[in-house]
Amino acid sequence: MAYSDKVIDHYENPRNVGSFEKDESEVGTGMVGAPACGDVMRLQIKVNDEGVIEDACFKTYGCGSAIASSSLVTEWVKGKSLADALTIKNKDIAEELALPPVKIHCSVLAEDAIRAAIDDYKSKRGEKSGADASAG
Ligand code: FES
Ligand code: FES
Repeated sequence: MAYSDKVIDHYENPRNVGSFEKDESEVGTGMVGAPACGDVMRLQIKVNDEGVIEDACFKTYGCGSAIASSSLVTEWVKGKSLADALTIKNKDIAEELALPPVKIHCSVLAEDAIRAAIDDYKSKRGEKSGADASAG
């Protein structure tokens, strides 16, 4: 199976690989695993006082599509509010990277990871997590 050029680009030049200090109050950490293949993705965000994601980074132990998905998501969330970042869907990631059907779960992993990171940040702040934010 051939990877798309965009997957290969992110795989060879991953953006924002690294980690932030997990205990810092402005950092949210999302760690998720893919049941389909056992791969693991950790995605972190740094949020400023205005609630905007200033920086993001990731470490992924997985296939090229998982690495490309996390790399892409760290680029997309930068400069976004938490609410906007929550609107990123795995479908958008899969489309952008032209992932084939068997690799869709890799993009799901990235969506789950960003949600988990935002939830972690919010729970650190004593806010309720994602699911019930729809009322506002
Ligand atoms: Fe796990 Fe892709 S199947 S690396
Ligand atoms: Fe499992 Fe990509 S994360 S094959």
